[in-house]
Amino acid sequence: MINDKRYSTAYGVTANKHPPHIKKQCTKFANGFAIGSLCIPLCSTQDIQTITCHSFQSTKEAVFSAEWHDTKLVFKSATSYVNVLHWYDNGELKYPSERDFLYTVKAIVKNKINMNISHDTAQKLARLKPSYQEINLSKRRREMDNLWVLLQDNEYLLSALYAERDIFPQLLGTCGTYFAVEFVEPIESSPTTFLSISDNRKEWGRRLKIALLILELLDELETGFHEPYHLCDIKLEHFGLTKSGNKVKFLDLVSVYSKSIVGAIIRQIGACQKDEDCEYLDCRGKCEKKRDNVALL
Ligand SMILES: Nc1ncnc2c1ncn2[C@@H]1O[C@H](COP(=O)(O)OP(=O)(O)OP(=O)(O)O)[C@@H](O)[C@H]1O
Ligand SMILES: [Mg+2]
Repeated sequence: MINDKRYSTAYGVTANKHPPHIKKQCTKFANGFAIGSLCIPLCSTQDIQTITCHSFQSTKEAVFSAEWHDTKLVFKSATSYVNVLHWYDNGELKYPSERDFLYTVKAIVKNKINMNISHDTAQKLARLKPSYQEINLSKRRREMDNLWVLLQDNEYLLSALYAERDIFPQLLGTCGTYFAVEFVEPIESSPTTFLSISDNRKEWGRRLKIALLILELLDELETGFHEPYHLCDIKLEHFGLTKSGNKVKFLDLVSVYSKSIVGAIIRQIGACQKDEDCEYLDCRGKCEKKRDNVALL
């Protein structure tokens, strides 16, 4: 149990206001299972407020925006269908060594985005705060448990791996298997949508600017990485315009894959008759008829 007076006194007040999925995460925090820089402001003090759900048909367990002092952030839950990291040996609880955990982190990145990362990068990913090494063994085990789930979530992994690239919303912190990123205004919610009928010069100019910013983003995704990244879940509200109005970021990273990974997903489809059989969400492949009708990217 966490012996945090602020938590135990404030929990009843703050957590009661939260929807059930946040309460669940806060209970994990109270029991010492969830850790991360945002647990105290989310569960204990009343610093993170104004919680608004984003999507009624969300594929994620939770997506909600909140305010933390002057910062607007969006919380997302990492997919939690992964096996636990620890195991038992003759009744004794076992965790991987630091060295093995680093290898595991490298293997996750290789497996999910087909990239070999350096030792330094793996070390940053293997910690919740990239420059802080947790010495306390039981806290480090909790940290590993939380990271184990987070890192296997495509969205967390890309946000953490490319935290220094200004292309996806900035990762702001975590609490258990929830992580928060900067709020970037989704394009559809702005007064001018791409389907606008009233087409005056100013609105047209704005749409043109957004269209160019989207092309810039696509160009960066195509050419600025170890291999091109493909966006397999395209909708307007997955593009966000930064406050400066000079950059478009992509907001839903669940279906953002490197080219070779999309290729592998599409090849898994196997037999095909026509190109339409070779689609994975919005990513389209081709049916290679010469080679036994197999799906290729
Ligand atoms: N960082 C962000 N800043 C602002 N809005 C965001 C951010 N991330 C997501 N959103 C908005 O919340 C919506 C839902 O988030 P997201 O797409 O990540 O979840 P989802 O489970 O895929 O939901 P949906 O099925 O509605 O797309 C997005 O369509 C987007 O408009
Ligand atoms: Mg989405």
